[in-house]
Amino acid sequence: MHKVITISELRETVREWRKQGKSIAFVPTMGNLHAGHLKLVTEAGKRADKVIVSLFVNPTQFGVGEDFESYPRTELEDEKKLESVSTDLLFLPSVFEIYPENPVTTVTVSGLSTLHCGAHRIGHFDGVATIVSKLFNIVQADLAIFGKKDFQQLAVIKKMVKDLNIAIEIVGVDTEREHDGLAMSSRNGYLSSQQRKNAPKLYQSLCQARDAVLQHTESYPAIETACKKSLQLAGFEVDYFSICKASNLELATENDNDLVILAAAKLGKPRLIDNVFFEKQ
Ligand code: PAJ
Repeated sequence: MHKVITISELRETVREWRKQGKSIAFVPTMGNLHAGHLKLVTEAGKRADKVIVSLFVNPTQFGVGEDFESYPRTELEDEKKLESVSTDLLFLPSVFEIYPENPVTTVTVSGLSTLHCGAHRIGHFDGVATIVSKLFNIVQADLAIFGKKDFQQLAVIKKMVKDLNIAIEIVGVDTEREHDGLAMSSRNGYLSSQQRKNAPKLYQSLCQARDAVLQHTESYPAIETACKKSLQLAGFEVDYFSICKASNLELATENDNDLVILAAAKLGKPRLIDNVFFEKQ
């Protein structure tokens, strides 16, 4: 695995690979890698000749009072993990390499970015869309791989790529879970042992809500309210729990068939997000 910290070194390697006619897949991450991230890298290796992974904790997607400073940074362990899968190049830029001057250009995917997580983390998706478009411009890959765990992030990126005619294919990969259903996340490490025991309830309520939708027993608002209440009783502080159209993440009506249920809830310090998507037929 080749490791580079500057944009110019990265571009030089990519130029060389392009001369050799190699295809390139890109996996952007913020590090503290777990099996979910590695699944994306493995998928990348199946789809292209060369795999580039970036590891960059992007300050502009963290709000005031969020965990930018304390975000887990585990570079050495991450490198070992990436060596064990099909990574050809690891890009480890500094904040200064990415944001050298005071940038005044931001990418905003209107509408989508203000729903759900966007309503609770103001500016978050502008930070994500901007860093991802910068990384796409730097890496110039044929395809990029993202996790469906961050369903709204994936939707924002797909829309940005479409609207801006960025020449890259976006591939979504299913969520990797712990044995008890909890979606793997770099922030799960913040959970106390008691909170960790409770944490799978988020995914359990999403599955219960999906079953209730499929059984047509209650209205969507009634299902959402019941799930929020049971999560609150279990100690969660629920930001949102919403039955949505998978196509645009707006609230679904009983006539919609392609659905995603999106949820975010704090359990002590960490904020967990998860979703289930399914077809109603
Ligand atoms: P990060 O949270 O490190 O996640 C990197 C990628 O891993 C994202 O595409 C995310 O959806 C995916 N991922 C996280 N947990 C997963 C799981 N349990 N199963 C499958 N995939 C999972 O998302 C970001 O970083 C940043 O916002 C980034 C896109 C890198 C921009 O800074």
